[in-house]
Amino acid sequence: MEQSCRWMLILFMCLITLPALLSEKCFSRSQKTHLHLATKTPYRYITNKNDSVVHYPGCNILQVWMIVRHGTRYPSSKIIRKMRERLPLLRDLVVQNHKLKRGKLCKEEIAALQAWSPHVEEADEKRLAHEGEDEMIQLAERFQNRFPQILPDIYTNSTFKFRHTATQRTAESARHFTVGLFGRRVSRYVWFPEAIYRDPVLRFYKLCQKWRLEVDKNPHSLSERMKFEEGPEMSAALKDISFRLGFSETISIGDAVILYITCSFEIAWDHRAHSPWCAAFSESNMKVFEYTEDLEYYWIDGYGYNITYRQACPPVKDMMQHFLAEEVPGGEPRAQAVVYFTHSGTILKLLAHLGLYKDENVLLHTNFNTMGSYRKWRVSQIDSFGSNLAFVLFRCNKQLKVLTLHQERPVTLPGCPEAELCPLNVLKEQYKESLNGCNFEHICGLLPKTA
Ligand SMILES: *[C@@H]1O[C@H](CO)[C@@H](O)[C@H](O)[C@H]1NC(C)=O
Ligand SMILES: *[C@@H]1O[C@H](CO)[C@@H](O)[C@H](O)[C@H]1NC(C)=O
Ligand SMILES: *[C@@H]1O[C@H](CO)[C@@H](O)[C@H](O)[C@H]1NC(C)=O
Repeated sequence: MEQSCRWMLILFMCLITLPALLSEKCFSRSQKTHLHLATKTPYRYITNKNDSVVHYPGCNILQVWMIVRHGTRYPSSKIIRKMRERLPLLRDLVVQNHKLKRGKLCKEEIAALQAWSPHVEEADEKRLAHEGEDEMIQLAERFQNRFPQILPDIYTNSTFKFRHTATQRTAESARHFTVGLFGRRVSRYVWFPEAIYRDPVLRFYKLCQKWRLEVDKNPHSLSERMKFEEGPEMSAALKDISFRLGFSETISIGDAVILYITCSFEIAWDHRAHSPWCAAFSESNMKVFEYTEDLEYYWIDGYGYNITYRQACPPVKDMMQHFLAEEVPGGEPRAQAVVYFTHSGTILKLLAHLGLYKDENVLLHTNFNTMGSYRKWRVSQIDSFGSNLAFVLFRCNKQLKVLTLHQERPVTLPGCPEAELCPLNVLKEQYKESLNGCNFEHICGLLPKTA
């Protein structure tokens, strides 16, 4: 065939297939949905893949103290029930809409939705998901690669100190972290202390009666979220979502939240699959839902009320005490590695106690636009599943210094030099209230009666 003739043919083929290709362009593929899953973000989007050995010239590494949020889990029974009862109805309605040529979903998105059924049962509530196990194994492996001297692959009961709260998801997270360090066989022999109901270091807020009354159970704490849900940004997002799904009436915020949560969990718990429910959202819709979550966590677990972060001194004091033991020459043989497994509520209060991710402005229902892209308080990044905070102690020419890592990346604590190790003495001064004045009963009022 002649060259020009062949080109003509190709051009012709393109012209007839192009409209078909265009009409089949699926909107959800171009949307970065996974960046806005709030506290249901799986750790694989947060990971720092650089796990080369961390070395500071002239410094010896002494200890690591770290605190880890459990890995990806299943939802609460309340949410599982809604997924099982409400979503099949919505699925059928959306498929029906499509048949009537309503809505903007492509064939592929509709097919995925049609094939969807709930894969989670109430018995799974809040259990660690398989993805969560992998997150912990891999997190441990990377930390071991960075700090092989203090996280050796040989287990000894005296040098490793693990602890978790009294829940399946933190116990299993701890177990899988030790699989990552020592391998499956040895991990079975790792000793854990018996978990404490309302652990005063790992879950201090459960003991803080004043916080529970004034913040956690106070409806006012949710008012910024509520007002935002009734505001213009949410109203526009709901209209957009309804239009995309082919509804002539706007769907309720309750239904939309279930779609958002299901999209988030289904992305989180299965890295091979994609949730068909995510196709309901554009990336900018996702940002609106993400902000509702940021507002809620800001006012309940963050900077909203000072009691929330003031009470978070016990873990800081625990870390400092482990580190200050190095100032005493001789002394008892001590743990080189302390690793605690806990919950979102602890991680966020601790971040706020340390003064990290504090925006200049308060998060409000009225400032979504100004806080929009630049806010620091973004739970998708700072409080994903498997979130972790690590303090690493070094001795550099007789001076004790600390490296602080959040989500495996160095962070600068207030008062510390930028991009350098922070002298332990600076931390002692900066957090002296936490170390000496951690009067929990004074901050929190009377302790609740133990069950
Ligand atoms: C990886 O991490 C090491 C240790 O923190 C650092 O020195 C190095 O520059 C990093 N490499 C890259 C490519 O970022
Ligand atoms: C491990 O050490 C703890 C004290 O830190 C002790 O209570 C426990 O019995 C030890 N477990 C084993 C198996 O040696
Ligand atoms: C904490 O906030 C309360 C109420 O807003 C205020 O009265 C109190 O002085 C604050 N306490 C501290 C230590 O900042």
